[in-house]
Amino acid sequence: MAMTGVLRPGHVAVRVLDLDEAVKFYGDVMGLVETGRDDMGRVYFKCWDEQDHSSYIIREAEQAGVDFVGFKVLDTATLDKLEKGLNAYGVETRRLEAGDLLETGERVRFTLPSGHEFELYAEKTKVGNGMGLTNPAPWYTQSEHGIAPVRLDHMLLYGPDIAKVKAIFEDVLGFFLVERVLAEDNETEAGIWLSCSHKVHDIAFVEYPEPGKLHHTSFLMDSWERVLRAGDIMSMNEVAVDIGPTRHGITRGCTIYAWDPSGNRFETFMGGYHPYPDYETITWTWDNFAQGLDYPQRKLHESFLTIVS
Ligand SMILES: [Fe+2]
Repeated sequence: MAMTGVLRPGHVAVRVLDLDEAVKFYGDVMGLVETGRDDMGRVYFKCWDEQDHSSYIIREAEQAGVDFVGFKVLDTATLDKLEKGLNAYGVETRRLEAGDLLETGERVRFTLPSGHEFELYAEKTKVGNGMGLTNPAPWYTQSEHGIAPVRLDHMLLYGPDIAKVKAIFEDVLGFFLVERVLAEDNETEAGIWLSCSHKVHDIAFVEYPEPGKLHHTSFLMDSWERVLRAGDIMSMNEVAVDIGPTRHGITRGCTIYAWDPSGNRFETFMGGYHPYPDYETITWTWDNFAQGLDYPQRKLHESFLTIVS
């Protein structure tokens, strides 16, 4: 599949309660690479195998949660085109200046019906993955430091009006619906898993009355062994674990969910399949949702379903 339009989740900006504690957690336990700090007090990180400057940005605040989610698009012409498309669809946008976010070009920001601040951008400084572009080694010391995910993979967001959110992603941004969970009426969509690529999801939403909530940020691991190793590191560091290691029925992803010290849930994830845009959507019915959530245990984990930041 030719990759055009919206490429991938590029960055997520998350609020933490104690910046020093969070920097230590994301640097040493998660094993992200710190790449910068700005005059607004934000600290920038990337995963070791990412080429762009930053993908995970934190700032200190009174309340945990997500400030905004950014997706990278192919180029500035694509950015202009998508902005026009959003406006024509009735979505109001505003431009944020280049450099307002460190090493990042102009951003097109809008509010989703779910209450999340969402943005598109075309440019971010490439800092490389530390191994160069000529005869690169497959890994280096940073890829063994802490949990060390290879890249930011996706976000699951909770908020209202996900039917309207889906329409924007499908009709304007070029995403397709990979999987969905039906509500008790077996008709309304309670959860949607959307892809703009070959990935089983690039972003997902669950219907929830409160707007703008973060369920989790997901980090990709190279293998099931690396997910289990992440679980070992979580235990060594007394990280609060929610569920896993296990496998979802939904997306077939293999996973552990845990919380950062501020209560932001994150996922160490691998697996799933590789859908194309012509694949038909997979549906999970409400009465079988326990398998969708945790395939081996077939259990509706209360904490997983109700705790968001
Ligand atoms: Fe996930």
